[in-house]
Amino acid sequence: MKLNKLVLASALLLTSAATALASNDAKMDKFIDDLMGKMTVQEKIGQLNLPVTGEIVTGQAKSSDVASQIKAGKVGGLFNLKGVDRIRDVQRVAVEEGRLHIPLLFGMDVIHGYETVYPIPLALSCSWDMPAIQHSARVAAIEASADGICWTFSPMVDICQDARWGRIAEGSGEDPYLGSRIAEAMVKGYQGDLTRNDEILACVKHFALYGAPEAGRDYNSVDMSHWRMFNEYFPPYKAAIEAGAGSVMASFNIVDGVPATGNRWLMTEILREKWNFDGFVVTDYTGIYEMIAHGMGDLQDVGRLALQAGVDMDMVSDAFVGTLEKSLEEGLVSMSDIDTACRRILEAKYRLGLFDDPYKYCDLSRPAKQVFTPEHRADARKLATETFVLLKNQDNLLPLQAKGKIALIGPLANTRENMPGTWAVAAVSSKYSTLVEGFKAAVGNKAEILYAKGCNLMYDETDEKNATPFGRAMRDNRSDKEMLDEALAVAAQSDVIVAALGESSEMSGECSSRSDLEMPSSQRDLLKALLATGKPVILLHFSGRPVVLTWENENVKSILQVWFGGSETADAIADVVFGKVAPSGKLTTSFPQCVGQEPLHYNTFNTGRPILPEDEGFVKFKSNYLDVRNDALFPFGYGLSYTTFDYSDLTLSAAEMSVNGAIEASVTITNTGNYDADEVVQMYIRDMVGSVVRPVKELKGFQRISLKKGESKKVTFTIDAELLKFYNAKLDFVCEPGEFEVMVGPNSRDVKVKKFFLK
Ligand code: BGC
Repeated sequence: MKLNKLVLASALLLTSAATALASNDAKMDKFIDDLMGKMTVQEKIGQLNLPVTGEIVTGQAKSSDVASQIKAGKVGGLFNLKGVDRIRDVQRVAVEEGRLHIPLLFGMDVIHGYETVYPIPLALSCSWDMPAIQHSARVAAIEASADGICWTFSPMVDICQDARWGRIAEGSGEDPYLGSRIAEAMVKGYQGDLTRNDEILACVKHFALYGAPEAGRDYNSVDMSHWRMFNEYFPPYKAAIEAGAGSVMASFNIVDGVPATGNRWLMTEILREKWNFDGFVVTDYTGIYEMIAHGMGDLQDVGRLALQAGVDMDMVSDAFVGTLEKSLEEGLVSMSDIDTACRRILEAKYRLGLFDDPYKYCDLSRPAKQVFTPEHRADARKLATETFVLLKNQDNLLPLQAKGKIALIGPLANTRENMPGTWAVAAVSSKYSTLVEGFKAAVGNKAEILYAKGCNLMYDETDEKNATPFGRAMRDNRSDKEMLDEALAVAAQSDVIVAALGESSEMSGECSSRSDLEMPSSQRDLLKALLATGKPVILLHFSGRPVVLTWENENVKSILQVWFGGSETADAIADVVFGKVAPSGKLTTSFPQCVGQEPLHYNTFNTGRPILPEDEGFVKFKSNYLDVRNDALFPFGYGLSYTTFDYSDLTLSAAEMSVNGAIEASVTITNTGNYDADEVVQMYIRDMVGSVVRPVKELKGFQRISLKKGESKKVTFTIDAELLKFYNAKLDFVCEPGEFEVMVGPNSRDVKVKKFFLK
């Protein structure tokens, strides 16, 4: 009886929530109908225009070119304008001087935090900590919205299996399951329910397949089967949309031979008709214009193509404002094509509450209270410690004791600019610490921190070919020998050497593809010289991508992969190096043994000629290389701790499962070492026989747990039919009866296995 009442009450609640939503929608529709009834064709097209705002400065907005366009109703939004006062000034022009008083959207690339910068997204994914990742997006939204931003071009959810592609730094690695969970977490973190003035609109990007360019070269062509798209690359975009993402950004690449920006199958059939997306689509920077170079026609042709594909907003190409009116007159596009796109932009503004209060995100008093606050910084610091991956720790060199003389050596040891990592538009590097400062603060007067740069990032950074923006800025004009001599003198005085080496932050990210993934030779030579001193050497390795650490792994005892940890990098690294926190990050991208293995990912197919674990060296007529084994140097899911974990008693609740049922896989984890620490327990599944080939393993569950030393915990995963589904040859999402393997372990390689049957 009680239960019935409860069910009834919640049904009523749901019905009234649905009624409220429907009446809100009806109110919105009416408002937009009225507004659009007053708009001219030019004003409607103006809503579809998103120019960049570099030149707008406070006080001059009125006189600038963009300002007059805003007044004339030719602009729907602006992006990457920093500062709530400037944004308020520009918004004022739109709502007070524009004919119909339509507010603007203000977007920005708030990719991994605002002024409080979190680790780069690839690093964040290595925490496998969904609540913390969601919270990082929430903090980013609070800070960005305090500074006038209501729309972020994030999350970037492109799956990437190729370490050569520099933008692997901006995504969550190679796995669609983990990528989907992170995509949902980020969208929820940014948007909440989009009612408050500290919640902002997310933009899922880059739709689609941007992370699979041929040979890892940015903007290069993509060509893959639909079957692969659906199984490996689409899931995170779909998950983000199901989590309610309000906008989607089109990618630069082609899909099935048509640029994504002009691809109707992608933007309408998949996104809207199959996935029910009801937000708006924006192009990437000059995405429409670039279709001319792709060979799709002139500006008018490509503008029409994009609109009719389902793109609503034109970032920077000037194609919509420049050509749509003419296309309308010539009958090439219809009024309803333009109306549909215009309505979607106005709906986004309505949902953000900008028609109620265009200054909702323009409270001038907020930045001082809400940007770069001690709470936000503490949170970013804690999460950064979870992203570092301990790749090797022979002789337990780490953690270091704060005593004696510690030499911190390398081109990344004393730089501020490199700490935030790529795509940190709002970062203010002058506010962040260098590693030297972080180490000094951590040890106080218990130890002495010595520093030497040791070498430039590369020997020949002045050479155009090798120059990276930060690399060149960081260049020291002393000779290589002088720098090395200084480093060796510092090393000679020390008890232990910590080498801070790797990529500069701009060696990964957009347009930073690399064909060579080895450590630059200036730094490798420095490392060799430091090792030759015979002193213990710890390598802190910075990079925005997996690199080749084969030589380093053979020669250095301790390697901590620190990526780019954001504004709090220095303190977070010190926390882990000096043992305040045990490392717990696990790789979400395979580290290759050499660049020739790329693209490399763990969830591969077996082939008809697989090599077996017991096969040694090269095996003729099997799928392997003459000169390197197939496996990663450090596999997906891998990462050590200061403690050790024992996995035991993997059990399944039943050996058979029906399609309507579920079984549980449980395992006991024991902290068998001397540190309290976190562990990421991972479950993989293999479908042994299918109507199409199935991967040798796929991540299907994970849990991040904390264990005190000596403590044991039982971790349980539920497996149901949904988890076993995949897209078959007809692209139906199905699960097929038969045998499955469940694998549980600390990474994708070292797993315990049990089997069950799906009936
Ligand atoms: C990038 C996008 C970014 C946009 C706006 C483009 O170059 O591909 O990820 O959001 O610029 O800054």
